[in-house]
Formats: sequence, structure tokens, C-alpha cells
Amino acid sequence: MSATVQAQGDLLLSASNLSVRFGGVLAVNGVSFDVRRGEVFTLIGPNGAGKTTVFNLISRIYTPSTGEITWHGGDAPLKLTQQPPHAMAALGIARTFQNIELFEHATVLQNLLVGRHVHRRTGFWREMLFTGATRRAEVHARETAERVIELLDLQHHRDSLVAGLPYGVRKVVELARALCTEPKLLLLDEPSSGLNVEETADMAFWIQDIQKELGVSVLMVEHDMSLVSKVSDRVLAMNQGEVLATGTPREVQTDAKVVEAYLGSVDDVSSLRRVA
Ligand SMILES: Nc1ncnc2c1ncn2[C@@H]1O[C@H](COP(=O)(O)OP(=O)(O)OP(=O)(O)O)[C@@H](O)[C@H]1O
Ligand SMILES: [Mg+2]
Repeated sequence: MSATVQAQGDLLLSASNLSVRFGGVLAVNGVSFDVRRGEVFTLIGPNGAGKTTVFNLISRIYTPSTGEITWHGGDAPLKLTQQPPHAMAALGIARTFQNIELFEHATVLQNLLVGRHVHRRTGFWREMLFTGATRRAEVHARETAERVIELLDLQHHRDSLVAGLPYGVRKVVELARALCTEPKLLLLDEPSSGLNVEETADMAFWIQDIQKELGVSVLMVEHDMSLVSKVSDRVLAMNQGEVLATGTPREVQTDAKVVEAYLGSVDDVSSLRRVA
């Protein structure tokens, strides 16, 4: 197998020359990157750099004005820009949001089962009649939810209403809900935002478990550089919609353009932690 073919086989998602404009703001400008199978790939950059917008392009909330996003997670490469937003979960792409989005007045388990509906391919009449296929789908959904609850140590909160849970636990529930769709690629927008130091350390463990135990690839946006360094295989730094550098966490943190974009006068970005 040639080196090129080998490299293609490692690809899960490739974004090439992505741009999108909101009025006068070029929020993303000519951004290209690849996410490889099995890796944690992290987007960093100052506020307003365009990170969440990149996620919204991948999730099909926005359509890019230039560029293409290709999904390599299926049998053949697929142009994501031609897919509707609701197709993402069934393709194997799940996400969490910068601001938690859960059903507040439902229990943790109910929220996780909602996430599973994407894989229930049984038809309306079969649902009505509750046939064997529907029952098997239901059983599988519940088993998956229970596995995720165990993996993320949510047993104590399983039947609690989301509204009554501390913020840190809700962040984990959102992660759990995304995992219940059994994604190949998990998009995490600021998993540590609003978490204290201890909860952030736990989040790092969850992300590592998701990568290593479940084999799920992760594309993350994150400001906490200690978390970024701990869990990321590769990092891409953006500023004002453009890519500044891509490489290992160390390479990117010490890149002169990255240091300049963040802080101007300070030597590196390792101590950076966003004040929410
Ligand atoms: N729907 C929108 N309409 C208009 N402007 C937008 C929209 N979404 C994002 N922007 C603008 O695009 C730019 C990039 O925003 P984005 O939310 O992607 O930044 P970010 O890197 O995620 O920042 P943060 O770290 O603060 O979350 C900003 O100037 C923002 O104001
Ligand atoms: Mg953002």
C-alpha cells in the first residue's frame, strides 16, 4: 500500500479551505485540517477566533461559503456539506455544546435514551405494534445508556432530574448523551468550561477513557491548556478565523504566532486558563 493510501485510511474527517462570513466578519477563513482515526484533535484560540463556528460547519448548522468537509467514517468518502444536520448523528458524529443543552425536566436516563433515538430504524407501524425489532432496539438503547452511565460514573444520578444537578455533573451528562449515539467522532465544545480544577481533572480522564476504551475519535475546542496538553494528540491554533499553527501540543504552544495571538508579551500559553 502506498503512503498516500495508508494516510487516507487513517483519516476520519477532512476539512479543506473552509470559510464562512457573517455580515462583515469573516468568522472562518481558509481553514484546513484532518482528524485521524483514534486521535484527540483540539482547536485552541482566543475568544472569537472561529472555533465554535468550525464545529457549526461540521454539524451543518452553517454552510461554508468556500471549502468542503469530507467524512471518511463510512464505506466511501462523503461530502458533509451535502448532508442535512439531522443526518450527522446517524453518520457517527455527535457533539456537546458550549452552553449545556439538556432536557432539564427529565431524568439523566431519559436524556440518554433521547440521544439513542438516532439509531432506532424501525418504522412507525412496527413501533406501534412493538415488534421484535423495536423491542431489540429498545433493549440495545437501554444497554448502551447503562454502559455509558457506568463508564462515566453517573450511577448515583441516573434517576435524578437534570435541573437539580450541579453544573459539573450536567457537563458529564451532556457528554454521556453524546456518547449514547455511539459516535465515531465526538465534538466537544469547551468540555472544561465552568468546571473547577478537580472536575476538570475528571473530565480529562473521561476524555482519555472515551478515546482509549471506546476507540472514539475526539475533536475538541478547549481553553484550558493543561487539559489540552494532557489529552490532545494534535492541536490546531486559530486566530481571527485563520489557522496559525498545527502540531503537537508543545509545538503549538511554543509557536511564536500563537504566543503573540494570545498574549503578546508572555513567553508561552501554558498558564492560560480562560476566565468565564
Ligand atoms: N451566527 C452568527 N452571526 C454573526 N456572527 C457570528 C455568528 N456566529 C459567530 N459569529 C462571529 O464569528 C466570530 C467567531 O465566533 P466563534 O463563536 O466561532 O468564536 P470562538 O472561537 O468559538 O470563541 P469563544 O472562545 O468565545 O467561544 C466572532 O466574531 C463571532 O462574533
Ligand atoms: Mg466558542
